Amino acid sequence: MHPEIELIFGDITQINVDAIVNAANKSLLGGGGVDGAIHRAAGPGLLIECRELNGCDTGEAKITQGYHLPAKYVIHTVGPIWNGGIFNEKNLLKNCYKNSLKLALEHDLKSIAFPNISTGVYRFPKEEAAKIAIAEIRKFQKQFDTPERILFVCFDEENYSLYHNLLK
Ligand code: APR
Repeated sequence: MHPEIELIFGDITQINVDAIVNAANKSLLGGGGVDGAIHRAAGPGLLIECRELNGCDTGEAKITQGYHLPAKYVIHTVGPIWNGGIFNEKNLLKNCYKNSLKLALEHDLKSIAFPNISTGVYRFPKEEAAKIAIAEIRKFQKQFDTPERILFVCFDEENYSLYHNLLK
């Protein structure tokens, strides 16, 4: 039986896990929000490595070292920009979680922390995004034993209370 999904209210750049997931953009060259926070905390080495990755398609995920972060790795994934939900946004968001977990499995990582992908600048409705995230992780946990620890790190009250109620 899997330990419960862990829920934390705070700053993902401070979380000491094998990998934190970055809600990046397709360039992988940094930005605002959690992307900006992760690059600031990791230091310049992260951007230098990201430059070699040639970007990332929406729904895909790529892994780098964590540099000055407490986390060993950063898994960069690009969430969909919400456009009314008729442009396959829900499936693309599912793929972000699925492909990030697949990379964690491939690297035999023991713990991974997710931000609330696409729910900031990309305006994905928070409740729908939370349901998709939790469902994808529960589906993955039925198939695989690692990573043993899967955490959601919420930075805003609204997301935190949504996840808190959905995970009860
Ligand atoms: N720790 C954890 N979560 C955070 C942090 C942080 N330090 N900073 C912001 N967040 C949360 C936001 O509160 C939001 O719930 O991350 C979630 C995702 O919001 P964004 O960072 O805006 O990401 P997203 O909506 O996926 O948009 C991605 O924004 O920053 C740019 O380069 C990024 O172009 C890309 C776009």
